[in-house]
Amino acid sequence: VNGTQQDGSPPTAVVGMVGAGQLARMTQQAAIALGIELRVLSKDRDSPAVDAGARHVAGDPCDMKSLLRLAEGCDVVTFDHEGVPPALISRLAAAGHQVRPSPAAQLLAQDKGEARRLLSRSGFPVPPFIEVAQGDVEAVRSFAAAHGWPLVLKAPTGGYDGRGVEVITSAEQLASSPLAAASTRWLIEEKVDIRQELAVLIARRPAGWWQAYPVVETVQRDGICHELQMPGVIPAALAVEAVSLAASIADGIDATGILAVELFVTGDGGLVVNELAARPHNSGHATIEATVTSQFENHLRAVLDWPLGDTSLLAPAVVTVNLLGPVGGVDLARGLPAALEDPSIHVHLYRKAHRAGRKLGHVTALAETVGEAQAKARRAAACLVAP
Ligand SMILES: Nc1ncnc2c1ncn2[C@@H]1O[C@H](COP(=O)(O)OP(=O)(O)OP(=O)(O)O)[C@@H](O)[C@H]1O
Ligand SMILES: [Mg+2]
Repeated sequence: VNGTQQDGSPPTAVVGMVGAGQLARMTQQAAIALGIELRVLSKDRDSPAVDAGARHVAGDPCDMKSLLRLAEGCDVVTFDHEGVPPALISRLAAAGHQVRPSPAAQLLAQDKGEARRLLSRSGFPVPPFIEVAQGDVEAVRSFAAAHGWPLVLKAPTGGYDGRGVEVITSAEQLASSPLAAASTRWLIEEKVDIRQELAVLIARRPAGWWQAYPVVETVQRDGICHELQMPGVIPAALAVEAVSLAASIADGIDATGILAVELFVTGDGGLVVNELAARPHNSGHATIEATVTSQFENHLRAVLDWPLGDTSLLAPAVVTVNLLGPVGGVDLARGLPAALEDPSIHVHLYRKAHRAGRKLGHVTALAETVGEAQAKARRAAACLVAP
């Protein structure tokens, strides 16, 4: 035969992912190395994951026909967001498709009220809460009588980056809150005296084998995560407690893939669960460079029921800074060479359209000390998103 035309061998596995944002984009990076074909379902072809080489399946993630089209020929279907109605996920599973995580596990990540109820019923620590119908100000008043103002109002579904969370200082504020007006159910919680915010990522296989990543400390401003440290600067005993809490939740809800458990360290040093995400999570982006196996690779391995990779850290201190779109726009290309002046910095750009406050990328620095990692990551971030 003339020439050595090679058509390539078949993929090692075909994974369908609902959603094509930055989480799918970074999952695609991990899929390449393992010879996995990743197919992503989204309305727009123009998306961070398709741009990175994932195969595009055009369709609405909330439409059953589109979900079935994605699942056709896939070994497993998984998710990069929580927007698919659980009933559709159940129908996909009932049609014989492997869906991981399960609809039940996803419901808890989707609906903060469901999660609060199930976790508290199972004995896990959560902030005091009530869930009431929209407009039931009286119920909120009596909750406030027991727990005091201010309270936190949450839309049970659809929130991210602090949209859907509001601190409420009085019944009058509640009555005039646009969030309260927009949300048909109100999740009302005690405003926790937060000392630190942590996240634990667990990678879990269908039969229950799991690996935890080192506990991450997150720094939130106005409900948006700005910066992350791995490992979090917390007492060793608290880290053990956080991991064991997250692992019990993962076992309890039979999670598969990555489960992220967001935790608050309260004023008295105890832990309460904030929210769950049943997918790769923003708190784990440092794992791309800072642990032996990234959360994205372990998510794929877990949902495919393949052996999990090592989650150990490769440096004593790691800091990730999220690149949030500044007010008035940004030119990432202009700042990039300056950011790269530090030869040890890792830059990830998601190629998302600019919006003020939107996560456009992140930078990660590994170092000997937290201070050093922080200085490097902040410097690079400032080069990129300086207004
Ligand atoms: N009960 C509470 N008491 C005090 N602060 C809270 C409470 N609930 C949430 N917060 C603050 O608001 C932030 C966002 O809340 P939450 O994680 O529920 O929202 P989200 O918008 O879904 O976040 P994400 O971007 O992680 O999906 C928390 O990280 C925390 O800083
Ligand atoms: Mg959160």
